[in-house]
Amino acid sequence: MTNDIYDPTYVAALFDRCSNNYRNWSAVSSFGFVRRWRRECVALLPKNVNPDAVAVDLMAGTGEVWPYLLRRLPSLRTITALDISHEMHTDAVERLHDSRADRITHLEADALTSDLPSDHADILLSTFGLKTFNQAQQTILAQQISRILKPGGHFSLIEASDPKGWPLRPFYRFYMDSMLPLVERLFLKGANDFSMIGIYTRNFVDCKHMAKALTDAGLEVTYRKHFFGCATSVSGKKPIAHNVGAA
Ligand SMILES: C[S@@+](CC[C@H](N)C(=O)[O-])C[C@H]1O[C@@H](n2cnc3c(N)ncnc32)[C@H](O)[C@@H]1O
Repeated sequence: MTNDIYDPTYVAALFDRCSNNYRNWSAVSSFGFVRRWRRECVALLPKNVNPDAVAVDLMAGTGEVWPYLLRRLPSLRTITALDISHEMHTDAVERLHDSRADRITHLEADALTSDLPSDHADILLSTFGLKTFNQAQQTILAQQISRILKPGGHFSLIEASDPKGWPLRPFYRFYMDSMLPLVERLFLKGANDFSMIGIYTRNFVDCKHMAKALTDAGLEVTYRKHFFGCATSVSGKKPIAHNVGAA
């Protein structure tokens, strides 16, 4: 087993181990902020899409964002949920989204190399799925997003970030780097999987590199800070006349 924390097999194994507790842990450890940020990510998408629209949820995990997405865009024909972790998919299907099963297509794949068709998605989103990619991988991911989106298609991506320059950042870092690992060790029998999220977030910093990579891939991009930069997002669309050299 590799020790490279950005190797997709390492990341898949990490989230396989986290899958059972992921939903509750992410909500509680963020004091509910992940829910607010998922809602804000979806709110950056247009309200009206054609009745047959296709959405792609990259790094979908247990599908926490689907209720928000289907509420905003009830006419969506299908959501393609792509995730590399087998257990996250299983958990999504078995435990959480039985009632939505007919509208979700599951794809167990690496987002960097997926064979999702080109010009396929009217809507593409990702909530908290960027941090486990280093900058070189983010560049590849941006090219994939540009390829998968239909001309005129919209995207919105949000990720927990390091709020550099915020006066309360030392408390935030203490919480992420010291408190969360301690609580996890105490309550999850010595595990330190969720604590990795602090390391990924610190390395990720914010969505600025992703914003540049998406722009370079030919997309129109807006970068935003959420709650003093504790999360950042990139949203926008693929221009109809799309002729920049995306891979
Ligand atoms: C922090 S979870 C986010 C899950 C969900 N989107 C949410 O809002 O809670 C990150 C997810 O990204 C997935 N992931 C990480 N790297 C991936 C890759 N290269 N390809 C596909 N999925 C990946 C993980 O398996 C995990 O389910």
